[in-house]
Amino acid sequence: MTLHTASGAQPTLRVRDLEFSLGDNVRLGPINLEAAPGTTLGVVGETGSGKSLLCRALVGMLSLTGGTIDAGSIKFQGEEYARADRRRWAHLRQRRVGYMPQASMAGLNPVRKVGGQLTEILAGSRAAKVEKARLLMQQVQMRDPDQVLRSYPHELSGGMRQRVMLAFALASDPAIVVADEPTTALDATVQNEVLRLIQQVQKERDMAMVLVSHDMRVIRRVCDQVAVMYGGRIVEMGPTTTVLSTPSHPYTKALLQADPMLAQRKTMLGAIGGAPRPPAEWRDGGCVFRERCPLATELCASQVPELRTVREGATAACHYAEEVLAA
Ligand SMILES: Nc1ncnc2c1ncn2[C@@H]1O[C@H](COP(=O)(O)OP(=O)(O)OP(=O)(O)O)[C@@H](O)[C@H]1O
Ligand SMILES: [Mg+2]
Repeated sequence: MTLHTASGAQPTLRVRDLEFSLGDNVRLGPINLEAAPGTTLGVVGETGSGKSLLCRALVGMLSLTGGTIDAGSIKFQGEEYARADRRRWAHLRQRRVGYMPQASMAGLNPVRKVGGQLTEILAGSRAAKVEKARLLMQQVQMRDPDQVLRSYPHELSGGMRQRVMLAFALASDPAIVVADEPTTALDATVQNEVLRLIQQVQKERDMAMVLVSHDMRVIRRVCDQVAVMYGGRIVEMGPTTTVLSTPSHPYTKALLQADPMLAQRKTMLGAIGGAPRPPAEWRDGGCVFRERCPLATELCASQVPELRTVREGATAACHYAEEVLAA
């Protein structure tokens, strides 16, 4: 699928038929997606659907979790990385790709001050690094940059830590940032501030962005395109307004029909009924959602639905997408 972007520019990130795994029991994909300059692709799905593993695959950090990329293509600005070695991925992250891992403490060393950790990933003379670190702190709207740089991660509030993580992600002047639940642990006011900051920085820099959230309100507010994940696959993808107003996959539809408390992941799970399959059973030759699906037939047990175009610009992996749309 080619995404129709306002600028018509080449996508910053283009993923084709990507398959990746974490040992024999957790196999994900195939994944197809794109993110264009100045736009945000949201990835939404319930807990355990594979969002974080996808993020790690996209930034070349899957191997740190013991995972591998098994097939397909990951292109950044036209350059292929799917089979890149660690050194090449690291080089890419130093120049073009920013990553905000899930849970802000995960990306920070708890026993070292923020400033030391930030300057060590910056280039140039000692003075230039300190200056750049201060500038980054200003860009993420810290009132007192020097004080933050002198702090240990645990001395910062959750919102400040997420700003610090954004500063780390921006340190390489990236063309794209992959942000894994950047606002999940924050209360509503701080969540709004951090989201506003992310959006502002992204527009200023004309960056592409992949933003993972299990909160439909966040997706609705921030994302131009949305990919709905279930069982290690994308089951529906398209312009956010299209997908959220008229979903064509039964899973997306069920998510949206749940009550407004959808933002809570427990509610999201409870809303649909039944439990998602364990990863070892994601690939059995049928649709991964069929046990929980009101439309499932024998076809769904015997044939994996491919992600296919069901209307302008939007795709769904359901044999009965047309029926979902017509219902
Ligand atoms: N290190 C690991 N070892 C074994 N299984 C793992 C590991 N990391 C993730 N998994 C499994 O892979 C699946 C996808 O995990 P992932 O963390 O990508 O989900 P997620 O969509 O990010 O969930 P959440 O919304 O809770 O963050 C889950 O079923 C999880 O149990
Ligand atoms: Mg996750």
